Amino acid sequence: MAEETLLNILLEDPNGFVSGEEMSRRLSISRTAVWKQINKLRTLGYEFEAVSNKGYRILIKPDNLDKLTLNNALNTVMMGSVLEIIKSTVSTQEEARQRAELGAPEGTVIIAEEQTGGKGRLGRKWFSPYGKGIWMSLVLRPQQPLEFTSQLTLLTGVAVCRAIRKRTGLDVGIKWPNDILMNQRKVCGILLESTVEDKVVRYCIAGIGISVNIDREEYPEDLRDIATSLKAESGATVDRSLLIAAILEEFETLYQLYAQEGFLPIASLWEALSVTINQEVVFNTTQGLREGLAVGLDPSGALLVDTGMGNIVPVISGDVKL
Ligand code: BTN
Repeated sequence: MAEETLLNILLEDPNGFVSGEEMSRRLSISRTAVWKQINKLRTLGYEFEAVSNKGYRILIKPDNLDKLTLNNALNTVMMGSVLEIIKSTVSTQEEARQRAELGAPEGTVIIAEEQTGGKGRLGRKWFSPYGKGIWMSLVLRPQQPLEFTSQLTLLTGVAVCRAIRKRTGLDVGIKWPNDILMNQRKVCGILLESTVEDKVVRYCIAGIGISVNIDREEYPEDLRDIATSLKAESGATVDRSLLIAAILEEFETLYQLYAQEGFLPIASLWEALSVTINQEVVFNTTQGLREGLAVGLDPSGALLVDTGMGNIVPVISGDVKL
């Protein structure tokens, strides 16, 4: 359960009123302190209806991201223990990398309302308009050699996929290695970047980009057929703070499981959510394009493709086409 805060009390029953007296009693603070907290929420964009003898109820929840709302929704120990929200930046990957270099602890989370130079995989750009998505980077400090970091990419995909399903009920699936798709269109991409010294990983930055509330017409022409957003698919605006909290919670649980039991349970969860397994795929090799049936993951996280005549090929990088 999230900690009892004034905001949580007001959110319990969004249509009901809560009296100042009840809030002051439940939080063991004075009525003046209640009033000050209500005013603090007003500065963050919350609007209230205040009725004498009844109390307060929330009329409008702001759509922008703020630390108070996020911390209020968050129920983790490590993920988000340091959390920063930036209005606009070139890329949260770069922001997180700078903090990691300065010693930011594992679990540091950097979120931006907008990225002016969002980075995708394979040198692509990532469309990151203001206030419409989740553009965030996590600082991780796994104690493991570089070759294991692809497992972390898959783990991140599982965490995001489970959180989206939980919060929206949408039937999203994972395309290898870590695109999250809805109706064959991409709603989320993950970019894991590692910094290594003497073959030991110093830190990884897991970048997560989710198109949350982007309307179809807001997409640039070249993305309209291949990208979609949670709002476009569900028809409803999605609360970004609650989704971020769910992702960080799922991530923390899976990261602990991974530390205790290794990659196997993560691989099973990934396979269960995958839209790639049991599909014919086309992939790149040094000898050109090849195709086959995706049959599973190997213990390192590579996609195993059956190219016929008992030939199973591990695909470790690049993209696959379904
Ligand atoms: C992909 O190409 O599928 C990966 C996209 C990753 C985008 C996220 S948004 C937050 C973080 N900052 C970036 O510049 N990129 C990642």
